[in-house]
Amino acid sequence: MENTNKMITTLTAYNEFIRPYHDAIHLVQIRLEALDTDYGYQYRHNPIHQITQRVKSLESIFNKLSRKHYEVTLENAREYLTDIAGVRVITYYQQDVYELVRALRKCFDVVEERDYIKKPKPSGYRSYHMIAIIPIHYLQGVEYYPVEIQIRTLTMDCWANIEHQLHYKTFQKDCSGNISQQFRQYAEELNELSLKMEAIYSIQNQNTA
Ligand code: GTP
Ligand code: MG
Repeated sequence: MENTNKMITTLTAYNEFIRPYHDAIHLVQIRLEALDTDYGYQYRHNPIHQITQRVKSLESIFNKLSRKHYEVTLENAREYLTDIAGVRVITYYQQDVYELVRALRKCFDVVEERDYIKKPKPSGYRSYHMIAIIPIHYLQGVEYYPVEIQIRTLTMDCWANIEHQLHYKTFQKDCSGNISQQFRQYAEELNELSLKMEAIYSIQNQNTA
């Protein structure tokens, strides 16, 4: 019974803790949809293929805090974790990623950016990551919550999903193994292929401009 009560208290605290992160995600999503529509009107091209979103589970928050050697509390999660709220934007082309990055910088207070497209991770991972601070107006005043926005093309996303699925199941986490090397190679090949298709888009775009 004591354990059940403890569990209910923890879950209630988590539900209350996570609510503003959901609100922050919602606000980012609305901005992205408006930008996508605007691009459609102006350039006859919608850069966004798909938007997905998630909040970190309680278990995942606790795991991350202990991995980072913080005491496992929701206060520390609020203070130190910037990826509790996450939005992933999948675009068609690499130039769409940078268009959206420029537009988002104008919409939000962006406090951190990592360009893993210009400088891919040793695994071969490509994506553009940014942390935006979202003001949310509640009855008692404004509060600020971070949202991690990951922007990448369909091909980058395809690679990341398959690598993620296989990585955690089968192969070693250091990047020196044979399968890791193969994945790095496939990331390169996909990138080349994707840029070739993007070149066709660019030529068509010039012709219709
Ligand atoms: P964390 O402490 O995990 O947040 O690492 P970090 O602060 O260095 O963040 P980073 O910019 O590396 O982004 C972490 C997120 O990017 C992960 O949660 C994944 O979604 C994604 N990611 C980073 N590296 C890889 C990779 O090699 N493969 C895949 N599939 N995803 C990756
Ligand atoms: Mg991170």
